[in-house]
Amino acid sequence: MKTVRLNDGNTIPAVGFGVFMIPNNGPTYQATLEALKVGYRHIDTAAAYMNESDVGKAVKDSGLKREEVFITSKLWLQDFGYENAKKAIDTSLKFLGMDYMDMYLLHQPYSDVLGAWKALEEAKKAGKIKTIGVSNMTPKIWNKFIPQFDTLPAVNQVECNPFFQQRELRKILDPLNVKIEAWYPLGHGNTELLNNPTITQLAQKYGKNAGQIILRFEVQDGLIILPKSTNPQRIKGNLDIFDFELTGEEMQTLRGLDTGKGSHDPDAPGVGEHLLSAYKIHD
Ligand code: A2P
Repeated sequence: MKTVRLNDGNTIPAVGFGVFMIPNNGPTYQATLEALKVGYRHIDTAAAYMNESDVGKAVKDSGLKREEVFITSKLWLQDFGYENAKKAIDTSLKFLGMDYMDMYLLHQPYSDVLGAWKALEEAKKAGKIKTIGVSNMTPKIWNKFIPQFDTLPAVNQVECNPFFQQRELRKILDPLNVKIEAWYPLGHGNTELLNNPTITQLAQKYGKNAGQIILRFEVQDGLIILPKSTNPQRIKGNLDIFDFELTGEEMQTLRGLDTGKGSHDPDAPGVGEHLLSAYKIHD
């Protein structure tokens, strides 16, 4: 498994198993256990996914040592602000049944971002979180908040796939050595993407499926990726991308698929308010 060194000196496996929208009390436990069994060592959950406890149980039951698995969770908007965030970090640790998280992210860049970030910085100093980062920050949002942060985030987890390659954001993050983590790295199963002829031709050439070509392209292009699947064969296959290499020319051709547009626009007016009212994770 390829690992990536972050700007705080920690390392993270380049492929993580994402558990967004997998229900708690069984399905997330099974999927995470399966993922760990076939070799994933990085699990990406969030308070708002409501499945941290299944992730924690699966890690415990996997037989792996805690330090062998990289666990990310995220602070939900409802718990932004300094005091709320401090409590929410402890709640995530409790649900996970762990005494530290490898990484904790601000899930969405709205409301009291500065207070929430301060709580993450303090939790890092206290050893509750090893690495801190942000999510869903466009160039505009990044430029608004980051100059006010004391600590530079290690990652920005954003939507990213061959149709939406985040080139503008990468121009800002690359010189700072802030890594992009890609959510929806397969375009959320977008059939137009999975059936794109450039991708299917490469799949044929390398004896891989289209998903594996997409994921290989992304990792080779320096991204940390979080493919999601509940299908055991695909869970395993999505990790099987390290026995071939795309040529420089193929990488350039794939870079040409970028349309600059994704499914979610964090800059759109009212997004923060909408998310906050749509997802309540506690009273
Ligand atoms: P399934 O759970 O049946 O495997 P993303 O990670 O971009 O959100 O994409 C997840 C979607 O892509 C899910 O619908 C998942 O379905 C599907 N998927 C996961 N891996 C692959 C793959 N290798 N090829 C095609 N589809 C995939």
